[in-house]
Amino acid sequence: MAGILDGKKIVVMGVANKKSIAWGCTQALLRQGAQVILTYQNDRMKRIIKRFVPDDAILVECDVSEDKNVEKAFKEIGSQCGKIDGVIHAIAYADRDTLTNDFVKTNKEGYDLAENISAYSLISVCRYAKPILNNPGSVMTMTYFGSTRAIPNYNMMGVAKASLEANVRYLARDLGKDGIRVNAISAGALKTLAVTGIKEHMKLLEMSKALTVNDKSVTIDEVGNTAAFLMSDLSTGLTGDIIYVDKGVHLI
Ligand SMILES: NC(=O)c1ccc[n+]([C@@H]2O[C@H](COP(=O)([O-])OP(=O)(O)OC[C@H]3O[C@@H](n4cnc5c(N)ncnc54)[C@H](O)[C@@H]3O)[C@@H](O)[C@H]2O)c1
Repeated sequence: MAGILDGKKIVVMGVANKKSIAWGCTQALLRQGAQVILTYQNDRMKRIIKRFVPDDAILVECDVSEDKNVEKAFKEIGSQCGKIDGVIHAIAYADRDTLTNDFVKTNKEGYDLAENISAYSLISVCRYAKPILNNPGSVMTMTYFGSTRAIPNYNMMGVAKASLEANVRYLARDLGKDGIRVNAISAGALKTLAVTGIKEHMKLLEMSKALTVNDKSVTIDEVGNTAAFLMSDLSTGLTGDIIYVDKGVHLI
């Protein structure tokens, strides 16, 4: 059966393990016929993901904390794979003190680090992916509705997600003339490595589940399927948007 991503090459950034949202996206893209190129943060991550990705998977190192790493990674992807059709950015980070202290104690270093990795990096990724992106091309990122609401303990990550969503809108305006659209999925709370950094994350996960329309949390497969749609030509009319894939949590 033909897939909606037959013939497309998509870069997925942010697989840490099999629970990662990026892994849910990867599997959905593969089901729809895409070729997937995975980027990983460092050697430790590479060793972990090597255990479960197919032997012939294309893996490229990319720690987004420095522009030069992002530039090098997309140059390498271009020389190995030629043009690509899309990029999924599923990356965020804030240090433990920043995540667990009262928000008012957020210091400049913690603020800058969270913004750099979780929000600024999308701009850098778009800049260095642009020369190898086809027209039409698609970029998407992952956000959470702590960007527009003060969710208990989400703190600095909510501020970074607000920036990230603004970046999506400005990048969409900027790159639209080159046929590249930029969107975000606002996923419901999911038990991943990243979420365990949030203080009292079990409460966050339970609260999110209780607010869904049927008391069942969204899955990484469901998020991945929406990501596949956003990477496909079925979504060429959609840009600068935040799509909620949270089983209705944001309705309340
Ligand atoms: N889990 C949730 O409930 C939830 C909900 C909405 C949005 N999100 C967002 O989804 C995205 C993916 O997170 P996840 O929940 O799948 O967790 P995860 O821990 O599986 O993934 C986070 C990824 O970010 C990567 N990363 C961190 N710093 C990096 C750096 N300097 N360079 C390159 N990569 C770096 C990690 O290596 C990891 O692969 C994040 O943006 C997160 O904020 C998560």
